[in-house]
Amino acid sequence: MLTIGILISGRGSNMAAILDAIRDKRLPVRLAVVISNNPEAAGLKTAEAAGVPTRVISPKSFGDKHSYEAEILSELESFFVELLVLAGYMRLLGATLIDAYRNRILNIHPSLLPEFKGLNAQKQALEAGVSEAGCTVHFVDESLDGGPIIAQRKVPVLPDDTEESLSARILREEHQVYSEVIGLYAEKRLQIQDGTVTILPSH
Ligand code: GRF
Repeated sequence: MLTIGILISGRGSNMAAILDAIRDKRLPVRLAVVISNNPEAAGLKTAEAAGVPTRVISPKSFGDKHSYEAEILSELESFFVELLVLAGYMRLLGATLIDAYRNRILNIHPSLLPEFKGLNAQKQALEAGVSEAGCTVHFVDESLDGGPIIAQRKVPVLPDDTEESLSARILREEHQVYSEVIGLYAEKRLQIQDGTVTILPSH
């Protein structure tokens, strides 16, 4: 069974949805460890309550990004993590993790990439006046929210939407699509070629 690790920074609702999918046997993977850069992340409690080992690794305790990420890497390796899942991890990954886990890191972003990269994507969508928004699961590379796209889900933007209402509508889709994509990865159905992802048929 595929062993995954999750990096979080805060609420952890995507992590919780993944945990639910594992518990309900909709997602045949093992979540080995949840690591947060932020000791206050609410998701840490959720993981602990589910019996998943947690670690807090704060960048403040390290002199540079490489030594910070080397510590994360050593934890991931100690748990034999094969796929690294970013779920609201609010830091840009550096070369240490990306090189060690090339094409084995997933991220979810609350926009229809390549539109609205970076912070406050839902607010960016509202301000741009688009009629559709959504979320994207992608492989992580050196670029900010720019790695190969795996799956997207769309939602309508309604006339009276606020950042909160739009974010909530997108989040419902995030919670479904992330587990689905992790499942595809576990089934070895994601193929990357020249920066493009193909989803292979099930057999
Ligand atoms: C989500 O909107 C995700 O797309 C973005 O950060 C948010 C994390 O939320 N990367 P949560 O911590 O999973 O609740």
